[in-house]
Amino acid sequence: MFDFLSQSKDTILIETETIMKKIGIFYGSSMGQTRKAAKKLQTVLGKDNADLHDIKEIKPETILKYKNLVFGTSAWGVGDMQDDWEAFIDTLVELDFTGKKVALFGLGDQKEYPGSFADGLGTLYCRFPDKSIIIGEWPLDGYTYYFSSAEKDGKFVGLALDEESQPRKSAERIKKWAEILKREFI
Ligand SMILES: Cc1cc2nc3c(=O)[nH]c(=O)nc-3n(C[C@H](O)[C@H](O)[C@H](O)COP(=O)(O)O)c2cc1C
Repeated sequence: MFDFLSQSKDTILIETETIMKKIGIFYGSSMGQTRKAAKKLQTVLGKDNADLHDIKEIKPETILKYKNLVFGTSAWGVGDMQDDWEAFIDTLVELDFTGKKVALFGLGDQKEYPGSFADGLGTLYCRFPDKSIIIGEWPLDGYTYYFSSAEKDGKFVGLALDEESQPRKSAERIKKWAEILKREFI
């Protein structure tokens, strides 16, 4: 009887730990590019390690299930996030992120929008309530633009991707960023 009880307790503990350590990737995407990038990231991290969610389809509780979170948005004009993030952000800022780590990524088009490149990423960072738990900064090297609100202290606040003018660079960038996340997540 005792053995049975302690064994099932252990099993529960292991299962809880497994869910907590899984990464929740949440994206908002209007034309599918951010979704595509989020899927690539999930593949690189491993499907057993990361779940994928469209931000327009989830309840806030879903976010709270994960200890490690990735949020991805595209950019739509100066300072605008993708529409579904715009709709969800007021809910997100009310959530309790204590004990969690969060990484951000953003898509943009530096050639067409060099004055607001990846601004959705910048706004997501700006609106996020606890900057101290944000991980996954990314270097500015290899991009050409003249302003991005996603830039802070000589780095991007998360991974910046450009499927329009630098589509061939995305796979390698995602791979390298995933390595950073694996080190920095808890
Ligand atoms: C009307 C419009 C406005 C855009 N504004 C910006 C912008 O200000 N900055 C930027 O970097 N990209 C901008 N983009 C580019 C998108 O962010 C880019 O195409 C992105 O890959 C779209 O991702 P999604 O399909 O996941 O929404 C804009 C695109 C459109 C069509």
